[in-house]
Amino acid sequence: MQLIRRVDALREAVGALRASGGRVALVPTMGALHAGHMNLVAEARRRAEHVVVSIFVNPRQFAPEEDLARYPRRESADARLLEEGGAAILWAPEVDEMYPEGFATSITLAGPALPLEGAVRPGHFDGVATVVAKLFNQVRPDIALFGEKDWQQLAVVTRMVADLDFGIEIVGVPIAREDDGLALSSRNAYLDDVERQAARALPRALGEAASAIKGGMPVAAALAQATKRLHDAGFDPVDYVTLTDGVTLAPLDQGAPGDRLLAAARLGRTRLIDNVPVSD
Ligand code: PAJ
Repeated sequence: MQLIRRVDALREAVGALRASGGRVALVPTMGALHAGHMNLVAEARRRAEHVVVSIFVNPRQFAPEEDLARYPRRESADARLLEEGGAAILWAPEVDEMYPEGFATSITLAGPALPLEGAVRPGHFDGVATVVAKLFNQVRPDIALFGEKDWQQLAVVTRMVADLDFGIEIVGVPIAREDDGLALSSRNAYLDDVERQAARALPRALGEAASAIKGGMPVAAALAQATKRLHDAGFDPVDYVTLTDGVTLAPLDQGAPGDRLLAAARLGRTRLIDNVPVSD
């Protein structure tokens, strides 16, 4: 695996991979890799001959009060995992390589980027879209893989790729979970032991609400019950628990094919998100 930090070197290395034949897959990440990320890499290897993984903690998607400074960084452990996972290139640029002096361009999104995370974290998805567009142009992959863990991000990137004619196939990969159901996340490292125990209430509340809706409970009642369960477990605030169309992220008042039940809530200093299907 090659570790690359400059765009010109990246282009050369990807060009050499392409010249050897086969498809190129990109897995964008912010590092602190866990089994969820490695599932994306494994799926990328199944779908393409060459896998490029990016690690870049993107300042433009963090609000000033968010966790940019304390976001976990462990590049050498990540590099070992990626080597074992069969990545060809680790693309790990510094901030000034991505955003050099004078950088002045940003992608502005509407549609699926506006509600939920978009409402609670204004500007977050514009920052994600801007860096993902740069990564797409730097690597020019045939396919790019994103986790269903960040369901809205997957929907937003899919929309952007269609709207801006990137011509890249976007693949969503199912959520990797701990044994007790908690979705793997780099941010789980912030949880202390008590919070870690409480955190299992998030997937449980979503699972119960999904079953209740499937069983005929009115959506509003099921969402209220899930919200109460999260409060009872110590989550505060509960930013949202909602049933949406999985593509447009518009709210639904009953289950429908392709729908998604999404939640975000804070436990102590850590904000957790999760989602499950209801009608699939
Ligand atoms: P990051 O949080 O590092 O996640 C990188 C990718 O791994 C995302 O597509 C995310 O959805 C996926 N992922 C994380 N945990 C997962 C889990 N438990 N199961 C399945 N997939 C999981 O998302 C980002 O970085 C950034 O916003 C990025 C797209 C890299 C742009 O900066």
